[in-house]
Amino acid sequence: MTKTRIIGTGSYLPLTILSNEHLSTIVDTNDEWIMERTGIKERRIATTETTSSMASAAALLALEDSKVLAEDIDLIIVATFTPDSSMPSVSCKVQGSIGAVHAVCFDLNAACSGFLFALTTAHAYISSGIYKNALIIGAEALSRAIDWTDRGTCVLFGDGAGAVVLSKDSVGFIGSLLGSDGGKGEVLTYSKQMTKNLFDKEIIENSYIQMDGQEVFKFAVRKVPENISQLLEQHHTNIGQIDHFILHQANKRIIQSVAKRLNADENKFPINLNYCGNTSAASIPILIDDLNRGGKLKKNDTLVLSGFGGGLTWGSCLLTW
Ligand code: UT7
Repeated sequence: MTKTRIIGTGSYLPLTILSNEHLSTIVDTNDEWIMERTGIKERRIATTETTSSMASAAALLALEDSKVLAEDIDLIIVATFTPDSSMPSVSCKVQGSIGAVHAVCFDLNAACSGFLFALTTAHAYISSGIYKNALIIGAEALSRAIDWTDRGTCVLFGDGAGAVVLSKDSVGFIGSLLGSDGGKGEVLTYSKQMTKNLFDKEIIENSYIQMDGQEVFKFAVRKVPENISQLLEQHHTNIGQIDHFILHQANKRIIQSVAKRLNADENKFPINLNYCGNTSAASIPILIDDLNRGGKLKKNDTLVLSGFGGGLTWGSCLLTW
């Protein structure tokens, strides 16, 4: 079967920075609490940007890095749960703005795990010979889905986009293990405002991200190490063979706990949530791009990407850089 490899990366963060100090003038919170409980110092907020404009900016940088032309991209998948419109999709808007005229485009929603689901989907298409070059993007404008009076959620999230180009190669993507549990979805929800039905014009009230933080925390620290261990076992790989664990950037304490439970070196778990916050589906590709552009990823390094989020959903990918 054909293999696939990430051959280019890009990311975009909005220009407006929202610091913890600034947030403490909006809700009853403070820098000390946020830093201690999450590790977040500041996050970016889309003001003039939209999910699709951020996704397009990240995509152009990934294309430039990969040296693949926009017209040679035949698949674009955008992972997001905060599209600027449901129709047209963000991926179609990206296609229009970057000129990827031959691409097939669709959006995918697996909340914060979305990038891993999109990468796995693109890998399946390319390795089966259907497509050759894919743009996989995670993009979110979470600041538009937040209740800015709820200190339990508004301090956590940020906006941004990250993109990778995935192509045919002799090595690269080794495997992935994804999961979902729709029975536990109520701990993390976001319902769009819609009328109930034709005969009942009542607006559904819950139109912000709502979360039972402690339940999500417990789920993450249990499920992420379990999922990574199972994936590594499937591919006869040891924890010690992994050079970088690129985890969804939700909370520094979750990342530290995962490292501890895996008995892995915490220095192999890079962090950028201090200046990005939790950017949901965008967090993993933004971090990959940070590391790639910072020269931290060496050819043939072994990477684990892993995340969790609403749905509930979770997943990990094992790959050679
Ligand atoms: O992408 C996936 C999305 N979600 C997550 O990853 C979230 C996972 N969960 C978490 O990261 C943590 O549960 C939080 C950071 C959300 C909360 O941390 P915690 O240590 O679980 O705090 P808590 O909810 O138990 O609250 C402790 C106290 C409470 O006060 P009392 O009842 O002890 O007086 C809260 O009211 O902290 C209070 N609190 C705050 N204080 C200042 C809650 N939020 C804040 C805040 N500033 N922003």
